[in-house]
Amino acid sequence: MSASAPSRKRVIQAPRGTFDILPESAARRKVVEGQAEKILGAAGYRRIETPTFEATELFARGVGEATDIVQKEMYTFDDGAGRSLTLRPEGTAPVCRAYLQHGMRKLAQPVKLWYLSTFFRAEAPQRGRYRQFWQVGAEAIGSDRPETDAELIVLLADLLDAVGVRHDRLLLSSLGTPETRAEYREELKDFLRAHEDELAEEVRNRIELNPLRAFDSDDPRTRAVMRDAPKLLDRLTERDAEHFAQVRALLEDAGVRYELDPALVRGLDYYTRTVFEFTSDELGAQSAVGGGGRYDGLIELLDGPPTPAVGWAAGVERMLLSARDLAPPAELVDLFVAMAEPDGSRTAFELAREARRAGLQAQLELAGRSLKGQLKHADRIGARFVAIVGSNGHVSLRDMGSGDQRELTVQDVIPAILRGDG
Ligand code: HAM
Repeated sequence: MSASAPSRKRVIQAPRGTFDILPESAARRKVVEGQAEKILGAAGYRRIETPTFEATELFARGVGEATDIVQKEMYTFDDGAGRSLTLRPEGTAPVCRAYLQHGMRKLAQPVKLWYLSTFFRAEAPQRGRYRQFWQVGAEAIGSDRPETDAELIVLLADLLDAVGVRHDRLLLSSLGTPETRAEYREELKDFLRAHEDELAEEVRNRIELNPLRAFDSDDPRTRAVMRDAPKLLDRLTERDAEHFAQVRALLEDAGVRYELDPALVRGLDYYTRTVFEFTSDELGAQSAVGGGGRYDGLIELLDGPPTPAVGWAAGVERMLLSARDLAPPAELVDLFVAMAEPDGSRTAFELAREARRAGLQAQLELAGRSLKGQLKHADRIGARFVAIVGSNGHVSLRDMGSGDQRELTVQDVIPAILRGDG
């Protein structure tokens, strides 16, 4: 627009916290998708896709009324007929809903599913935190075996490795049952109240609401107090402790290094027993690349029969941010079809189509460039061959690597490229 234009129109922007996936980043995402498909597929996980929105009640019940997600972060709307719907903030509750709705408990258990989908949370946007984001997730529903937990953790570790996520740490803990947790909470509150004078103010103010946060405090005096605080891991029932010991033994055998984090808190209410989170130092404040755990009570909470389950989800954007070196394979163009004369248009059109039918990557001149311009463009997109279509079905086939050029009939072009001899 010239400087003298009366008023400059502002181009409409994507909503805050959302982003476009432009072709360059689409290619990197395809690598993540390909690796997920390969790694999860090899372990018998099959892909599922659930709707973008669900009944609000699914998340209110499934994720938990008291969580930040349900309290503050959901995009909820009325469908115009008095039903409340919500853009999915996560994938586990929808997958469990689908498991129940389609009677998947009649299938061989556990039912192993994976997804790559968009999710929505009205959070304050920052690096690695968006309002619409992508997760790759995996869920195994119908097994309480510790092998399932360990296998899922190993699969996520393998996926992060395959994508090149750097400096990842694995934090691991067990939450036991809801009853154990409730009793422990009271014990921890009593402990904190007994040491109230030594705690940082923000910790003191949150004793009732969120006593576990005391473990995350940076305040030196609070940290000193917390060294002697009771730990949930020491309060697990014998069965839960045994389950956790088996998960740990399997991970150790598999050579997966982890750190026990007795204060690991996840932002969703459905977890029982094993919980875990992979973090990357590359990410700054939003350091969690992926996380998950067991949710043995969720299916029952959604009115299904008691059904143990475990799973995880990893943020695609955070994986890509922490795997800076991930380079997608170069895009190949086997053939660029150029036109020396305008009357070659129909022949050129057909040649490009035939080439694609033969399995070649073929592009056609679409911008009405001069022949010189067409050759320059073919070079820019890295075409291996250029077919210059003249009149009467005659074609000059140029090998862009060697610069050799020879005359062919149009029928001979594709066989020559397939033979690789131009
Ligand atoms: P989550 O920890 O809430 O778990 O999310 C999993 C991952 O999604 C996070 O580690 C992060 O990488 C990514 N993520 C979450 N919120 C955002 C955001 N606003 N912007 C960008 N990335 C984000 C779950 O969602 C559970 N459903 C995981 C699970 C599956 N547990 C059992 N099964």
